[in-house]
Amino acid sequence: MFDFITEEHKMIQLEARRFAQNEVAPIAEHHDQTAEFPINTVRKMGQLGFMGIEVPEEYGGIGMDTLAYSLALTEICKADASHGTVMSVNNSLYCHGILKFGSEEQIQKYVVPVASGQKIGAYSLTEPMSGSDAGTMKSRAVLNDAGTHYVINGRKSWVTSAPYADYIVLFTMTQPELQHKGVTAFLVETDHPGFERGKTEPKLGIRASATSEILFDNYECPVENRLGKEGEGFKIAMTVLDAGRIGIASQALGIAEAALEASVKYAQEREAFGQKIGQFQMIQQKLADMKCRVDASRLLIYQACLAKKAAKENNGRYSMEASMAKLYASETAMYVTTEAIQIHGGMGYSKEMPLERYFRDAKITEIYEGTSEIQRMVIARSLTGLR
Ligand code: CAA
Repeated sequence: MFDFITEEHKMIQLEARRFAQNEVAPIAEHHDQTAEFPINTVRKMGQLGFMGIEVPEEYGGIGMDTLAYSLALTEICKADASHGTVMSVNNSLYCHGILKFGSEEQIQKYVVPVASGQKIGAYSLTEPMSGSDAGTMKSRAVLNDAGTHYVINGRKSWVTSAPYADYIVLFTMTQPELQHKGVTAFLVETDHPGFERGKTEPKLGIRASATSEILFDNYECPVENRLGKEGEGFKIAMTVLDAGRIGIASQALGIAEAALEASVKYAQEREAFGQKIGQFQMIQQKLADMKCRVDASRLLIYQACLAKKAAKENNGRYSMEASMAKLYASETAMYVTTEAIQIHGGMGYSKEMPLERYFRDAKITEIYEGTSEIQRMVIARSLTGLR
């Protein structure tokens, strides 16, 4: 039916499904309960090529396209959204940005080890007082008199994978008076003096993915670690988030698919009032609405993948398509996981089944990499051309 889905796409989807069901699903509950970072399975995902799917082979990846990345990520998230979070940040927020805006030297040094899964990458835009309004950050980078280093100071928050990251793409102000035009991107190494990790966030969901603050105290960043030109950081951050939003949509789809499959099975097996609960019209209506929204999310994700491919060919943007996929899939994940718990009744509310984990994991997809409100803003602005 969808002739853009090739045999190679189906193969990576199947490989990700096998790995997710055999190696990730059995440990998901443990990692959710303990909030322990799943370093061993993350390393294995690297060996399978899942940490750099769109990165060309000569740079340590497997050189496939965004659809391949989305299909694989959905399968991983169907088993465990925490694993998927680490995978998505590594692929789209970290590797994608450096590949697109970095020099050959930066790609060799900072993409190769991360795409191959030996090292972990992160992305840091948000600050305690600047989230959705990303152009108002307070952290600063000042070029030294010799012009060799930037000295970075400040505090960034909600950095996914920061407690384990080796390298971070950091956005900070070089010229605050220019607002968003004063933001610059840097490649930061976490074992250098002046870098410190702050408190790890205790989270509602995706508990096994580690999230923390990071602090810079006179961190000296060599000029060759600037990503792009001075003042280009905001555009780099936004361009990268467009790619990231397709990843979060795929994550939301995986969570929703898992909740729907569990609900169909339960409706076929559970009996009440002398019949299977799937024979009651009220359950049928829920299942039908869940299925429609899951499939609609998948189609919006396909559309966003195709739009990204077309944008690459004509140097254009696919912000609206990425935001539509992220908005719809994340709201679908919340809807489907809520209905799945309702269908399962008490069992859905119990930690003996994964439904309540799906529900908690789904919520973040409406928040990170741009809230639903921000996605609606991007879509409406794209339609009207108005700011
Ligand atoms: N691609 C390329 N350029 C873009 C762009 C995009 N997607 N979006 C905006 N720009 C450019 C504009 O063209 C404009 O350029 P000029 O100055 O040359 O005209 C410039 O950026 C400023 O654009 P806006 O005036 O539209 O900017 P704004 O301040 O109104 O903000 C916004 C727009 C869409 C609201 C944006 O700020 C945004 O997306 N905010 C949400 C940020 C976000 O998602 N934060 C969370 C990320 S990280 C995270 O979740 C943690 C993690 O670890 C995963």
